[in-house]
Amino acid sequence: MLKPRLLHQSQSLRLQYKPFIHGSSGSSTANSLPVWSIRPSFSNKNNHLRVGSIKNHSNNIEAVSSNNNTTSSITTRSPGPTTTTTTTTTTEVTEVVTENEDAVVEKDVEIVTTKEVVTEKFISVKATITVTLTVGGFLTNMGLTRGLDDIKDLLGQTLFMELLSAHLDPKTGLEKEPVTGFAHRSHREQGEIIYETDFKVPLDFGEVGAVLIENEHHKEMFLKDIVLDGLPNSPVRLSCNSWLHSKYDNPAKRIFFTNKSYLPSQTPSAMVRLREEELVTLRGNGQGERKRFERIYDYDVYNDLGNPDSSLKLTRTVLGGSEEFPYPRRCRTGRPMSEADKYSEKRSSNVYVPRDEAFSEIKQLQFSAKTVYAVLHAIVPSLETAIADTDLGFPLFTSIDSLYSEGISLPPIKEQGVLQSILPRLVNALASGDDVLRFVPPETMNRDKFFWFRDEEFARQTLAGLNPYSIKLVTEWPLKSELDPDVYGPPESAITSEMIEQEIKGFATIKEAIREKKLYILDYHDLFLPYVSKVREIEGTTLYGSRTLFFLTPEGTLRPLVIELTRPPIDGKPQWKQAFQPSWNATGVWLWRIAKAHVLAHDSGYHQLVTHWLRTHCVTEPYIIATNRQLSVMHPIYRLLHPHFRYTMEINALAREALINAGGIIETSFSPGKYSMELCSIAYAKEWRFDQEALPADLIRRGMAVEDPTAPHGLRLSIQDYPFANDGLLLWDAIKQWVTDYVNHYYADSTLIQTDPELQEWWTEIRTVGHGDKKDEPWWPNLNTPQDLIDIITTIVWVTSGHHAAVNFGQYVYAGYFPNRPTIARTNVPTEDPDNEAWEMFLKKPENALLQCFPSQIQATSVMAVLDILSCHSPDEEYMGEKMEEAWDEDEVIKAAFERFKGRLIMLEGIIDDRNANFELKNRNGAGVVPYELLKPFSEPGVTGKGVPYSISI
Ligand SMILES: [Fe+2]
Repeated sequence: MLKPRLLHQSQSLRLQYKPFIHGSSGSSTANSLPVWSIRPSFSNKNNHLRVGSIKNHSNNIEAVSSNNNTTSSITTRSPGPTTTTTTTTTTEVTEVVTENEDAVVEKDVEIVTTKEVVTEKFISVKATITVTLTVGGFLTNMGLTRGLDDIKDLLGQTLFMELLSAHLDPKTGLEKEPVTGFAHRSHREQGEIIYETDFKVPLDFGEVGAVLIENEHHKEMFLKDIVLDGLPNSPVRLSCNSWLHSKYDNPAKRIFFTNKSYLPSQTPSAMVRLREEELVTLRGNGQGERKRFERIYDYDVYNDLGNPDSSLKLTRTVLGGSEEFPYPRRCRTGRPMSEADKYSEKRSSNVYVPRDEAFSEIKQLQFSAKTVYAVLHAIVPSLETAIADTDLGFPLFTSIDSLYSEGISLPPIKEQGVLQSILPRLVNALASGDDVLRFVPPETMNRDKFFWFRDEEFARQTLAGLNPYSIKLVTEWPLKSELDPDVYGPPESAITSEMIEQEIKGFATIKEAIREKKLYILDYHDLFLPYVSKVREIEGTTLYGSRTLFFLTPEGTLRPLVIELTRPPIDGKPQWKQAFQPSWNATGVWLWRIAKAHVLAHDSGYHQLVTHWLRTHCVTEPYIIATNRQLSVMHPIYRLLHPHFRYTMEINALAREALINAGGIIETSFSPGKYSMELCSIAYAKEWRFDQEALPADLIRRGMAVEDPTAPHGLRLSIQDYPFANDGLLLWDAIKQWVTDYVNHYYADSTLIQTDPELQEWWTEIRTVGHGDKKDEPWWPNLNTPQDLIDIITTIVWVTSGHHAAVNFGQYVYAGYFPNRPTIARTNVPTEDPDNEAWEMFLKKPENALLQCFPSQIQATSVMAVLDILSCHSPDEEYMGEKMEEAWDEDEVIKAAFERFKGRLIMLEGIIDDRNANFELKNRNGAGVVPYELLKPFSEPGVTGKGVPYSISI
């Protein structure tokens, strides 16, 4: 009897053919298969088909079979859910220790196999690709985006995919071969098309780090996500939310990384090159005109607001890139320069934004950008047709009221039916088939028709209205201009101590009032005065510099004390200035009302140009560009910021095209006229500092708060009941806590911050390129520690969420009845150089003087239509804290932090409700007073005066 000998067999994980070396397995012992028994199925020395069970094998071999003396196959099933490995083995008996050949199959024998092994080991991986259908419609017809028809072309076609291993091959140090395949359309479900494919992924492929994908169609498609099932860490998700270009537009394949975030130093080995190359692609080369399908983020100055090719009168100053007119950068489109003015870019009705910034087609018809587009391109032009006389004012207050009751009949518009579906609030279809633009009375007017007339409401709105960012503490007395007296006249204010003390007699002297922080100011003097002469050259308008003083009453409310209007020396006439006060005689009352209309026009202009456009929309664009150019999509900070940047570049492009452009709504309807954007640049130069955009710093700068470690939020407010600040600080704290949790999760220490090349480049580019005109300012925060990063990110997030919501979503509530906030004051006050006729008219019917000072019909209605849209939440609105980003959801620590953040925001809802119900808080509660809800985090769709979206999308 011969002792049994082991059958040596060799396996390999790869498809390899290995020669057997006699006396050795020819492979690692780990791969040898110990055979406990082998029985021949039948006895034939020429046919060695054998089946049997094999025990004690780590791969759980289920069966061995052999149909001749040279080959066998081994099927194994691994413990993983779907791993199946088939091994084909060539076996040859080379040594048989026996007395005769026939004994070989009759006895237990020792067999040493000479074998050559061909092995296949793979994992079956299913890829599901979801493509979102677009909504198309009205805008498609107008050329902004493409429509449903294009998507039809996609049906039944395929996507070519490559799965890329996250890690380099440890043996070769090279990237592993990608696993490739075509995805085919599987089915369609609720606005989505599903593509699927199965991959055979080698067992040693390791983690999938990215997918390369090529769109074989002639049209782009919107890729929602890719999900890979079957890998050990399944499902592996790649959230794309991105336009996939056609390979006929651009032969380069698109890369999508998995949802896992990595600091640059922690990037999986095979992803390092791809991470860098993708950033290079996104930066572009700064050359040529950008094409619609491109995703290149680059910078340019604001040289596209004018339209000199249409008329030299529409040439506008270039903003940005000069000492005189510094400005944040916008997205470079690379359009050719104008023929009439070499400094201006040519106009275009289709402004390039990187493709993924334009979401119009996949959002509902009432998505913000679409509604703004519809108003600017259809409603405003038809209003201009309906109201032919651009100077025509409202003859009576009742004619203003009729805008809400009867409305304005619109001339025929080609896309009428669609307009009504996009703008159901504004456009009413009548039974006669006509369309009527009928405004909805704003909530302020619903509650108190005369709200706009009351002085205490005028003052209250500086704390709880549309522009709560201008009110400042008076710290110096007497008030004085800092402008050049040789140009602008004597710097002393017309407001005297006597005027103030007469009003606050019994409460305090002027000194006490200032010391006790009782005196506040809206100061539009030095910013506006340099533009007075220029603006007055424009027909049909006028301008002053202004100061308005308020006194903080013992009740905690503000009381207007005095308005000063100033005109610099002009046309050989000396400086003129006058202080107006609330009065107890008829003439004084009406003069006060007219002066107030001027201040409100200044506040409206400042709000729109500075508080709203400049400090949120405009300054954020460089953050977005730098984030996309310098932070990889797999960078955790990219993923933290991304929801805060959605749709902003698109809405900004639309603004440059039709709101802030030469001859646009801002120029035609706001006080500074065609100098509006220049004035905005001056405000950027004089007032904007990144470090003071943080809410606490902003409040301190305006004297509205001082640091106090014992007070809530570490701040003591100068006015206790300051609704914007009270609610804003709670929101600020919630954001800061969330950002702190997030940043600390990825950056354990300062070294990680300092050695993160992407993060450092990002911050450098924001400071020196995107805000390059301010690159030498000493106040830019450093970025050396996790705390520095927390402060920077919290500021950016606050600006895109809380700050923007506070100054955006109340626009219709507070300015929808325009006498409350006229955007322009068209006539001088009757006391400035009164000719007998004007003065007589004022005395005879002062109401007419006020109506003539107010915006014209076309100005008022165009602005009301725009404000209605700008105040509206679309049904697709993405409120901060409501929905978690998929990448956040995949990290347990981040997920838990987000849930806490969401909890705080829900709590804030309740706190704000409680505050609004508190009768003691007279700046937010009272007869006919609209509660302050602008910083309530969540909202229903529509014009609600509440809700804080993640980003600036309207
Ligand atoms: Fe906005």
